[in-house]
Amino acid sequence: MKNILFVASEGVPFIKTGGLADVVGSLPKEIDKNYYDVRVFLPKYSCIRQEMKDRMEYITSFYMDFDWKSMYVGILKAEANGVIYYFIDNEELFNTYKPYTDDALFEIKRFSFFSKAVLSALPTIGFRPDLIHCHDWQTGLVPVYLKERFQENEFYRGIKTVMTIHNLRFQGKWNVRDVENITGLSGYYFTPDKLEAYKDANLLKGGIVYADAITTVSPTYAEEIKTQYYGEGLDGILNARAHDLRGILNGIDYDEFNPETDRRIPHPYNASNFRKEKIRNKIELQKELGLRQDEKCFMIGIVSRLTDQKGFDLIAYVMEEMLSLDAIQVVVLGTGEERYENMFRYFDEKYSDKLAANIYYSEDMSHKIYAASDAFLMPSLFEPCGLSQLMALRYGTVPIVRETGGLKDTVSPYNEFEQTGTGFTFSNYNAHEMMHAVRYAERIFYDKKRDWNHIVDRDMAADFSWKVSAGKYQLMYDWLIG
Ligand code: ADP
Ligand code: GLC
Repeated sequence: MKNILFVASEGVPFIKTGGLADVVGSLPKEIDKNYYDVRVFLPKYSCIRQEMKDRMEYITSFYMDFDWKSMYVGILKAEANGVIYYFIDNEELFNTYKPYTDDALFEIKRFSFFSKAVLSALPTIGFRPDLIHCHDWQTGLVPVYLKERFQENEFYRGIKTVMTIHNLRFQGKWNVRDVENITGLSGYYFTPDKLEAYKDANLLKGGIVYADAITTVSPTYAEEIKTQYYGEGLDGILNARAHDLRGILNGIDYDEFNPETDRRIPHPYNASNFRKEKIRNKIELQKELGLRQDEKCFMIGIVSRLTDQKGFDLIAYVMEEMLSLDAIQVVVLGTGEERYENMFRYFDEKYSDKLAANIYYSEDMSHKIYAASDAFLMPSLFEPCGLSQLMALRYGTVPIVRETGGLKDTVSPYNEFEQTGTGFTFSNYNAHEMMHAVRYAERIFYDKKRDWNHIVDRDMAADFSWKVSAGKYQLMYDWLIG
């Protein structure tokens, strides 16, 4: 049996802000249980739902030197979907009403603490990992601390590490002096070949430099981040480690996202009855959101963090035009940057029967939108993988996406002549190109209903479960552990 430990800042069903949580919640249970024991470490945020907190049991606690203090580390444990989760408890650092705050220094502090606490906790929980799989900048110091101090101890010797980049934009940066002080790492670590980047300390870079292997969540993004355009300043180090960098496509949980058994949607459906049943979901959603009830309209769904990553500048640019086309309805669910929240609120006021802005977070509403919409719009500026388009495909909702990162790897462009493809795509980050793709999709939807339905057939038949990708992770684990 090989022991694998995931360390991450969020995971379903405990806490989620985006796709990272979906991956951390679904990948471990897809790894072959006959050969691997996969467990997960998360922070115990006070904003975790009470119902989930009630499932945690206290294991142990100790004090750890950190930031020139002796700090409390509590360890709790819970089981979910057959996977064991551990939680690091510290009131001072994880008592926030959202998982992440806007205070960059505080974020550095709490996740450096988390990384060190996870390593410190290992001997007390009766689980020695052969490999620690780290996710995003919040866990970038795990490989660093392991090398710097823990590996001196017999218990830790030989533990391998993987650093998975879910989003290169977030790196955990702050000035070197403060980070040295907080982390207790010596000046030796803060040079440009190690944790320093552009004069700042950079926690993700630490993970990239010290991990045994680096992965990202789609093959195309793995290539893109080696270029200056997508490299977010780290393309140099990523090129230097190109031999150890690979892209493994994300999957989604096919039990949780299953239109046939989904209790969150009013009219469950499958590949043979979607023609009728998707329309019933559409009408139901129009009723619920106060949109004009019209089964024929072309409904475009958006479920997303509202950030510039997701292409909202393009959407803002042509929203008026899109809504002035008679037949289009837009349903959006998301929270994030105020400028985008307000943009959607504005259009909701102006075109109340055509656009519904749902500026909040809701699993229930997200499933209803995936089920009811005809198309799903995701014109990202960059996209490491993207799970929303996979959910859309699963629900027979045709993606309209920009050809970047994981979107490019998962949505194939519709070809009218060969009758192939699963969605509508465009290549340049340009609002008119996006609009062209929307118009093209709309035309097929209205004028060639049979062709449209065949696209839906292909979408629902596509397989983006974890099966293939979990196998790729296993191969990598085996290769590293030996
Ligand atoms: P990212 O991780 O960059 O946000 P992904 O496409 O990988 O993008 O994953 C987004 C996940 O978050 C999906 O599961 C999507 O359904 C969900 N999501 C995003 N915004 C909301 C929201 N407002 N309410 C419910 N779910 C949301
Ligand atoms: C990140 C990326 C997204 C990816 C998700 C899970 O949040 O933005 O593209 O799907 O992580 O890996």
